Amino acid sequence: MEKRAPRQESFNSRNYFILAAIGSAVGLGNIWRFPYVAFKNGGGAFILPYLIALLAVGIPLLFFDYALGHRYRGSAPLSLRRMGRWTESLGWWQVMVCFVIGIYYAAIIGWAGMYTLFSINQAWGSDPKTFLMRDFLHVADTPGVGLDFVPSLFIPILVVWAVTLITVALGVNKGLAMVNKIFMPLLVVMFLVLVVQSLFLPGAGTGLDALFTPKWGALGDPAVWAAAFGQIFYSLSVGFGIMLTYSSYLKRRTDLTGSGLVVGFANSGFELLAGIGVFAALGFMANQAGLGVSDVAGQGLTLAFVAFPTIISQAPLGSLMGVLFFASLTVAGLTSLLSIVEVVVSAVRDKLGIPKVQATLVIGIPMTILSIFLLSTTTGLYFLDITDEFVNKYGILGGALACIIATVWFVRKLPVLRDHLNRFSSFKVGRGWMALVGVASPLVLGYMLINDFIGKLGKPYENYPQHLLVIFGWGMSAALIIIAVVLTLLPWRRSIRTDFDEQNNEHEVSEEVSA
Ligand code: ALA
Repeated sequence: MEKRAPRQESFNSRNYFILAAIGSAVGLGNIWRFPYVAFKNGGGAFILPYLIALLAVGIPLLFFDYALGHRYRGSAPLSLRRMGRWTESLGWWQVMVCFVIGIYYAAIIGWAGMYTLFSINQAWGSDPKTFLMRDFLHVADTPGVGLDFVPSLFIPILVVWAVTLITVALGVNKGLAMVNKIFMPLLVVMFLVLVVQSLFLPGAGTGLDALFTPKWGALGDPAVWAAAFGQIFYSLSVGFGIMLTYSSYLKRRTDLTGSGLVVGFANSGFELLAGIGVFAALGFMANQAGLGVSDVAGQGLTLAFVAFPTIISQAPLGSLMGVLFFASLTVAGLTSLLSIVEVVVSAVRDKLGIPKVQATLVIGIPMTILSIFLLSTTTGLYFLDITDEFVNKYGILGGALACIIATVWFVRKLPVLRDHLNRFSSFKVGRGWMALVGVASPLVLGYMLINDFIGKLGKPYENYPQHLLVIFGWGMSAALIIIAVVLTLLPWRRSIRTDFDEQNNEHEVSEEVSA
């Protein structure tokens, strides 16, 4: 029988893979999303749903993603096609989610990069909010779709894309592994210095009290639990092709679950550290202003680009703090963007049967152009806000739910994936894992999606005009699915074997073991 073409690339060592996977997981979600989500959803009490979400759904689904990519050894669409012919479209759905996220994620990294420079002389002056909205982003007064170009936003986005595409084109070892090997230790050192500096600010304790004082009543609120699961999904990069793609580059005999545990706990450790650093700094800011922490803590963009500059302007050695904070955001974001773009590039390469460099150009250039056109305009911020909200909910959660249901309940491959995980792994999985992936995860995801859908139907998201929500929100979410189906209908290059002989694979593996 003809042998399946081996995966063209593989990580030279498992440590490179672990580093790249942690680099992907630790991103904007950890630094600016977690602290605020935890604070808003019960503070110290949030740790309980958060840990349950991590252990009951996050890590089990991380194993699930690893098993899919490692067993079927391909990009998301190729792996899912090999698993069960029609499931290819679910892989394309995940690729499309990464395509959309990559477009705006690159812009945020570019802004963080610019703010690293702005921190040196605190270019925002006495009013960081006006600086951000008027002088830097030139945000249009009313939400809309416009093509008013902001030239100063163009260069940072271009630089981010250039670095990303060059790294991806260099391949998994010379590109992804190398960049993560340099950037991840750098990130840890910068962030630790930042956290220590924040902890020594007057008022730091007030911030930590605000973050960690448990509001136990919050545990009775389903929205708090949904927030914990949502955070884990985004932060661990599960369910949208990333971990699947990275694990397809792992050598056969790899301890998959052991690696997953390292990645999962490292990511959450970083997240808690970010919570401590950010809230210590916010405590200082509240102290200076004579306000409560909840009055000064913004979320997302506001937290990073308004609250932090304010803190930087007031803190001793503020410029150093600013450089550390924004450089950390840039580095953490960049290592996540690499993984997001890798999902898209590897899918294009597999489908068209072309070399990596060519695939990177074929898809990277259109992504760069879209990123520039949509994000370096005066309406870019509105696009970002709406798209991010919808793609996180209906793209990531919806796509993950569909993939789990298809794999577990239609193609019925969960026992195969369990055996695959157990073959070389130190931490064995069994019925408990199957129940968490096959029953608990779909229930949680289904609940979150339905709840969110009803909420959005009742009240337009952030009261944006309907036509914008229809285009960038609902329309975009539906378009991802339609495009995924269309891409599935396109033929594969003949050189790519899309079938998969489960039995033959068993032989291949046992040969390798006995070799
Ligand atoms: N996991 C990445 C983040 O946290 C996407 O930002």
